[in-house]
Amino acid sequence: MIFTPYGLGELSLPNRIVMAPMTRSRAADGNVPTPLMAEYYAQRASAGLIISEGTQISQQGQGFAWTPGLHNEEQVAGWRLVTDAVHAAGGRMFAQLWHVGRISHTSLQPDDAAPVSSSALVSPGVKVYIDPDGRGPQHGSGEFVQHSEPRALLKDEIASVAQDFADAASNALKAGFDGVEIHGANGYLITQFIDSQANTRSDDYGGSLPNRLRFLREVTEAVIGVVGRHRVGVRLSPLASHRGLVDDTPLATYLGAAKVLDELGVAYLHIAEPDQEDVPDMPTAFKEALRLVFSGTLMFAGKYTLSRAEAALEAGWADLIAFGRPFIANPDLPARFREGWPLRDAERSHFFGGTDVGFTDYSNFQQS
Ligand SMILES: Cc1cc2nc3c(=O)[nH]c(=O)nc-3n(C[C@H](O)[C@H](O)[C@H](O)COP(=O)(O)O)c2cc1C
Repeated sequence: MIFTPYGLGELSLPNRIVMAPMTRSRAADGNVPTPLMAEYYAQRASAGLIISEGTQISQQGQGFAWTPGLHNEEQVAGWRLVTDAVHAAGGRMFAQLWHVGRISHTSLQPDDAAPVSSSALVSPGVKVYIDPDGRGPQHGSGEFVQHSEPRALLKDEIASVAQDFADAASNALKAGFDGVEIHGANGYLITQFIDSQANTRSDDYGGSLPNRLRFLREVTEAVIGVVGRHRVGVRLSPLASHRGLVDDTPLATYLGAAKVLDELGVAYLHIAEPDQEDVPDMPTAFKEALRLVFSGTLMFAGKYTLSRAEAALEAGWADLIAFGRPFIANPDLPARFREGWPLRDAERSHFFGGTDVGFTDYSNFQQS
């Protein structure tokens, strides 16, 4: 079933294998995508859909060194190289729109300001990746440090952050992307509004579930207003205690979020399942419940193998399966699945920062 074509919005995907969004921290000065990144993504164009690495919607939205942005003309031009290369290789690509919220560091913020969040809460032990000596990604000399203490967004600033998402979505279309994925997962800004323990606000954006979902709703509406609902996906990570975030009633919270997104009619809901070894798997009953609440396309990611993916598609609660780490070391992953070739393991030390090594050089091994 994984090789059965799938219609997503106006796109026709040749298979149901999606490349999951993966930060690789190799953008050039000014957080501009490079020709090397274009080569990396084009090598993976046989995926039904590629979702880009997290791409900050504003300088304030950045939390890790050398991640690309989508908030100025140079960055749009850099991404144009990427999307042109992917399209020339026969692929399709969405941009993942990212605001990290509190998961940042003053050295990455405009004027060394404090990062922003729903509330002024620190998550002890949660780290960000910075460039302490300004040497750039090719030296791979980044360092993981505790995130900086955030300040709570003022109520009248929230609309301007939603507008930043919309502006970045508009830039994504200018850069040639086929659509955008709103990053509402993994403990970043949108999650910091949704999750009950991270959000202690007493205004319209905190407290009740509809209030905690208001920011997600407003961002999604703003992005839909620019690119159309058929070009918008949203990623959420229920049941993963990412970056110090825990919700008191995650099943109810995230079924509520799925309902909001269903009402808004987004093209897909992308569920990042827990992928850490020490977190239990997501119960199948919850995935089936999501299917009942959300009528659009459902995509799942997290430790999928070919056989788990086929089982999920057959069971009916998944339409598309996203693969992360397998795509790092196996640019030709769909062919490997189809031919039954073995998969290569990705080298962790090359995940973030560095050169072509562990990035584009896996393509030298097209077959086992
Ligand atoms: C190096 C690396 C970078 C990642 N960066 C992102 C990211 O930018 N945005 C995101 O939503 N998830 C990110 N993820 C999570 C993946 O999208 C995916 O959910 C996770 O790797 C589990 O899938 P897998 O078991 O197939 O690797 C990243 C994962 C890895 C390994």
